[in-house]
Amino acid sequence: MTAVINAHQLSRSFPGTPPIHALRDATLSVEPGEKVAIYGPSGAGKSTLLNLLGLLDGPTTGSYTVLGEETATMPARTKDRLRSQAIGFVFQQFQILGHRTTRENIDLKLSIARIPHAKRAALVDDALEKVGLTHRATSQARNLSGGEKQRLAIARAIVNRPQLLLADEPTGNLDARNTDLVLSLLDDFSAAGIAVVVITHSDRTAAWSHRNVFIYDGVLSATPPRS
Ligand SMILES: Nc1ncnc2c1ncn2[C@@H]1O[C@H](COP(=O)(O)OP(=O)(O)OP(=O)(O)O)[C@@H](O)[C@H]1O
Ligand SMILES: [Mg+2]
Repeated sequence: MTAVINAHQLSRSFPGTPPIHALRDATLSVEPGEKVAIYGPSGAGKSTLLNLLGLLDGPTTGSYTVLGEETATMPARTKDRLRSQAIGFVFQQFQILGHRTTRENIDLKLSIARIPHAKRAALVDDALEKVGLTHRATSQARNLSGGEKQRLAIARAIVNRPQLLLADEPTGNLDARNTDLVLSLLDDFSAAGIAVVVITHSDRTAAWSHRNVFIYDGVLSATPPRS
């Protein structure tokens, strides 16, 4: 089976005095259908790693192959295609358009991916149903509850039927009930063969995954560090 994610010694530094080494030599491989939780304190480098995995940013050093495609020499248009067709990303701060409806927010993703109009309505309906937001399709996104906004962000990430779903703190601001709802949604995607990588601070999410990866001060490890 080909790994969905194959990252080898990825590092990302940001300029500064001294430079910030946000990620150091991260090696990670994720299979189709696997649920991986990336677990670590604030500032550890979790979003930095997820941004690299989602092709939103490039590494300072290291190599990254996603869905069998090596990214080092990949043209920008190929990255755009992968981002719009094969990778779903749930942002830490939702990044939804408050003045647009739930349906419009999801449809926008398909429009950017240049999916023909005739196919879009059915895909949006399906995504709305999967996350349980059919009854909120025409609500202004800014009026949705926190849990509903999170589910909208997930619907937008999966509407293009990605093979890889990356979610930055998808349960960060949710109560226990909504957390369980989101985790069971992510279970469905994993059961359908989608590789799901989730960043979390929460023990509940860490208990849900097949595998936890810890990150401290930019360094990944399979076990929590000794305190
Ligand atoms: N664009 C950037 N420029 C400079 N420094 C950055 C940049 N992005 C992240 N950093 C720094 O890199 C480190 C890791 O940041 P990152 O956002 O990955 O942390 P995180 O683990 O996601 O934290 P949180 O749980 O608070 O979201 C932090 O010290 C942060 O200040
Ligand atoms: Mg973060």
